[in-house]
Amino acid sequence: MENNIFLQLKEVSKRFGQVDALKSVSFSARQGEFLSILGPSGCGKTTALRVVAGLEIQDSGNVFINNTDVSSLGVSKRNVGIVFQSYALFPNLNAAKNIAYGLKGQASRQEITQKVEDLMDLVGLAGMGQKYPAQLSGGQQQRVALARAMALSPDLLLLDEPLSALDAKVRIKLRSEIRRLQQHLGVTTIMVTHDQEEALTMADRILVMNEGKLVQKGSPHQIYEQPATPFVASFIGSMNFMGKARKMEPGMYDICGRSFYVANENGTARLLNGDQATLAIRPEDVMIDSSEKQGQNLFPGRIETMEYRGSLFRLNLRLSTGGKIPVITADLPTEQIRRFSLQQDMPVTISLPPERLLVYEASPGERIHG
Ligand SMILES: Nc1ncnc2c1ncn2[C@@H]1O[C@H](COP(=O)(O)OP(=O)(O)OP(=O)(O)O)[C@@H](O)[C@H]1O
Ligand SMILES: [Mg+2]
Repeated sequence: MENNIFLQLKEVSKRFGQVDALKSVSFSARQGEFLSILGPSGCGKTTALRVVAGLEIQDSGNVFINNTDVSSLGVSKRNVGIVFQSYALFPNLNAAKNIAYGLKGQASRQEITQKVEDLMDLVGLAGMGQKYPAQLSGGQQQRVALARAMALSPDLLLLDEPLSALDAKVRIKLRSEIRRLQQHLGVTTIMVTHDQEEALTMADRILVMNEGKLVQKGSPHQIYEQPATPFVASFIGSMNFMGKARKMEPGMYDICGRSFYVANENGTARLLNGDQATLAIRPEDVMIDSSEKQGQNLFPGRIETMEYRGSLFRLNLRLSTGGKIPVITADLPTEQIRRFSLQQDMPVTISLPPERLLVYEASPGERIHG
């Protein structure tokens, strides 16, 4: 096994009755790495985490922790700390006793008291040990759950949507706190979420799942900039899909008699001239010009609608002779709207920079979310 790999799943499959919750899932995590599993509801995120923890045993495939095949070991043999979506604290124990729960019999009373105090400090709850869960806010309860998971110094920290029950402000605050804590302790961590922003901001690497399969793994930057499939492209961020295209020559595609130039066809080299394809572009990559212009990927069009979103405007743009080309969504900074006095129904030149156009094999079978 590669050096430095702490956790590895090899072709893990798990079925519940008729449901394939995991279909030959393989991935690995380096020592100290923070992975995020991202995907829609029911795609198998929790199942993946439970298999890593040993709470669920896979039907086939293997799980390795620290170069040991733990496939047949139960949860107590894997030294994992787990935090679930619902805080699941013991309501009849105060915060300190909740945190100390797993430490009983593992150390002297004095050592346990000291350890609990250190952990409470670490998660920002100093002095609150005597409070019961019902006396704590959601965010505070989640910190207790985190401290409890850390108490046994786990080798692997597994977080299943730990922030989803919290309001937006607390969630954002806890994001950076959890990340800092994780880096401070150097503990290899997997966090499940279906919040793309959470995954993008916290993770070293993101694993995107759909329908039991791992569809892409990569850094947040890679996942956002080079989504491997239309599903990933639309699940993370917004994406314009431009209708059916046909490849005419390398770097040039036709939609409804118009030519679209694509600078970067990496990953789609399998497409041959004449093949069908799907072109896509993110709303923030679409540009407009209030004057008439001609050139590559410049199209005359009109602003159909404008929606104010504070720091930006979301525009729906219609190509003048676009045929079946769908409306193109553009996100433009409010400052730019002001500077060019852009208004609804205005004729504009729509620019789709060739280096920002993505191209996919046309895959009618794939479900696109979002
Ligand atoms: N114990 C179980 N018995 C039967 N089916 C199960 C069981 N656990 C999970 N499943 C099914 O397996 C699939 C994957 O479930 P899982 O809980 O892993 O999804 P998830 O990605 O965590 O979803 P969510 O975002 O809603 O939490 C779902 O179709 C689910 O109904
Ligand atoms: Mg789940």
